[in-house]
Amino acid sequence: MAVSRETVLEALAKVALPDGGDLVSRDLVRALVVEDGAVRFVLEAEDQKMAEILAPVRTTAQQAVEALDGVTRVSVALTAHGPAPKAPSLKIGRHPAQQPGKQVLPEVGSIIAIGSGKGGVGKSTVASNLAVALARQGLRVGLLDADIYGPSQPRMMGVNKRPSSPDGKRIIPPKAHGVTMISIGLMLKGEDDAVIWRGPMLMGALQQLLTQVEWGQLDVMIIDMPPGTGDIQLTLCTKFEVRGAIVVSTPQDVALLDARKALRAFQTLKTPVLGLIENMSTYICPKCGHEEHIFGDGGVRVEAERQGLTFLGELPLSVDIRLASDGGVPVAATDSPAAAAYQRIAQRLIDQL
Ligand SMILES: Nc1ncnc2c1ncn2[C@@H]1O[C@H](COP(=O)(O)OP(=O)(O)O)[C@@H](O)[C@H]1O
Ligand SMILES: [Mg+2]
Repeated sequence: MAVSRETVLEALAKVALPDGGDLVSRDLVRALVVEDGAVRFVLEAEDQKMAEILAPVRTTAQQAVEALDGVTRVSVALTAHGPAPKAPSLKIGRHPAQQPGKQVLPEVGSIIAIGSGKGGVGKSTVASNLAVALARQGLRVGLLDADIYGPSQPRMMGVNKRPSSPDGKRIIPPKAHGVTMISIGLMLKGEDDAVIWRGPMLMGALQQLLTQVEWGQLDVMIIDMPPGTGDIQLTLCTKFEVRGAIVVSTPQDVALLDARKALRAFQTLKTPVLGLIENMSTYICPKCGHEEHIFGDGGVRVEAERQGLTFLGELPLSVDIRLASDGGVPVAATDSPAAAAYQRIAQRLIDQL
């Protein structure tokens, strides 16, 4: 019989750490995937010192899982955030408040909203990868999943533990891949729980996530927006000082039409548009290397030029990007051509700021 997730976690809870506790109680296991008999997960170290402690533990963990009945294959990755930079290597500085009447979060340098008109164009994928890419550049980054109806950041960032709240008010956010993150999805019971909320509750939830979460000092906070131009966008952009929005689109005409609507909405709300990103630009066949423009060619770059907006870059349609997101380790956290594409976009964004 194939092994279950619970059995794997039980085994990992028996793997002790030299400085006390075990892998599960210390919350070091991320992105656990159990498929048939194949098990993979990530041990995430806060810093280099913790990574050194975890190196031998990783072997013990691997052996403990391999010893379970029904396990055919185990892969354990160990990731470490570099030494926490004392001052961010790339200062982008706090943006002076420019939008009168809007609330400023004292600890957050710049809030950046990732929006689009359409669902499924890759906003959440871009949000998580951009957050990770910025963190790899040495910035202190937060990621807020504001897609209250379809939160996807817990899965994409490989975080599934409910955040703690010592006094029932403050919320302590988890950290993954160098990014401090929160999602309404973490407050729900399971990933599949659907949320049926009315407008005012929704806005309350967003405000709570922005103001009650202990974000700490952040250079940027990336907000993964729900599709379209609804209540969440309205609340965020009218109540809070948002440094700017990034609009994601595929090159396809229908997606571009919706992207234009999103652009207009941000402009109406007096939220500057920092740039456009083209996702699923081109597909390169892994077998023969043939390049295919499945959703059209270069449409978003042309649109950016037409509107006098910055084109931040393009990302290929790649199975690596999807598998990485589904596995809870954004591709930007790896060393791959897709990660390099995200680094280029992150750099252009920093230049913009
Ligand atoms: N560049 C890409 N290559 C391959 N798959 C992608 C890419 N961008 C997004 N995806 C996949 O497409 C699906 C929708 O992406 P998602 O980021 O959830 O979109 P949205 O947040 O706009 O609804 C996800 O399964 C995601 O893994
Ligand atoms: Mg999404």
